[in-house]
Amino acid sequence: MKHFLNTQDWSRAELDAVLAQAAAFKRSKAGDQLKGKSIALVFFNPSLRTRTSFELGAFQLGGHAVVLQPGKDAWPIEFELGKVMDGEAEEHIAEVARVLSRYVDLVAVRAFPKFQDWAVDREDKVLRAFAKYSTVPVINLETITHPCQELAHALALQEHFGTTDLRGKKFVLTWTYHPKPLNTAVANSALTIATRMGMDVTLLCPTPEYALDERYLGWARDNVAESGGSFRMSHDITEAYTGADVVYAKSWGAIPYFGRWEQEKPIRDAHKHFIVDEAKMALTNNGVFSHCLPLRRNVKATDAVMDSPQCIAIEEAENRLHVQKAVMAALANQ
Ligand code: CP
Repeated sequence: MKHFLNTQDWSRAELDAVLAQAAAFKRSKAGDQLKGKSIALVFFNPSLRTRTSFELGAFQLGGHAVVLQPGKDAWPIEFELGKVMDGEAEEHIAEVARVLSRYVDLVAVRAFPKFQDWAVDREDKVLRAFAKYSTVPVINLETITHPCQELAHALALQEHFGTTDLRGKKFVLTWTYHPKPLNTAVANSALTIATRMGMDVTLLCPTPEYALDERYLGWARDNVAESGGSFRMSHDITEAYTGADVVYAKSWGAIPYFGRWEQEKPIRDAHKHFIVDEAKMALTNNGVFSHCLPLRRNVKATDAVMDSPQCIAIEEAENRLHVQKAVMAALANQ
């Protein structure tokens, strides 16, 4: 049984098939691939796009979605094995995942890191526990990666460039300022899919401390070795933007500072100039700009960039619906 935890677990042919099916769903939204089937959407964190697009996507394919928020409208869950459960949690993932699997055909999970200890967060324990105990396929709705966002972005780029072959495009993943330290998930994912698609990828970040986890840097290196693209890291804004075909922005907290964010804050605050603005975009090869959203305007990117024809963030957000329908259809009918 196949899950959708990371794109890296799927072959390039499987990803291409999902993207092709997503493009077909975009042309004609109705289908019966989930007729009589259901999905549990388990949210430990807030969402606008993910929840809306999954609920509607299931409906459009004849299925039904149930949204659960443990600790809010569902019981708090324990994930540790062997724990004496005398705290807040009322039930264990061993029961939760197996019970849900008796009701639904797919389980999808959003569980952000705790931001205290990256060595713990990088184990992705919540998602892995759902995958371990569920007897139906599990979908990652964003934990320490965001594979659905990856596919939506890839489809948006394929549409923009008018080809499914993105090899040779110059892709810049730029860190941006944000007042809070954010999840590295979308950055990990952007790096993963851009290198998987054979693009020439630059990871632009303020200092070496903002490098992503070695697991994802390794995936990037493996991907370009296979795809023929390239990957490098830069701290030079002008050099990175010059000639870029794609600028993808995301803010994230520096991994060495997990759990001691007050020490990271001065570094982050010193790099507010990483905002995506018209002057930087003017250096590109008439490049497109995108972001996973939500985005703080005039903090991560200026109004002018967000409202420019180069911005494809809304297209990418729409594509969440189409690619997720394709993922659900593939998993529910394997
Ligand atoms: N990009 C994204 O996942 O949006 P939400 O957090 O609103 O779901």
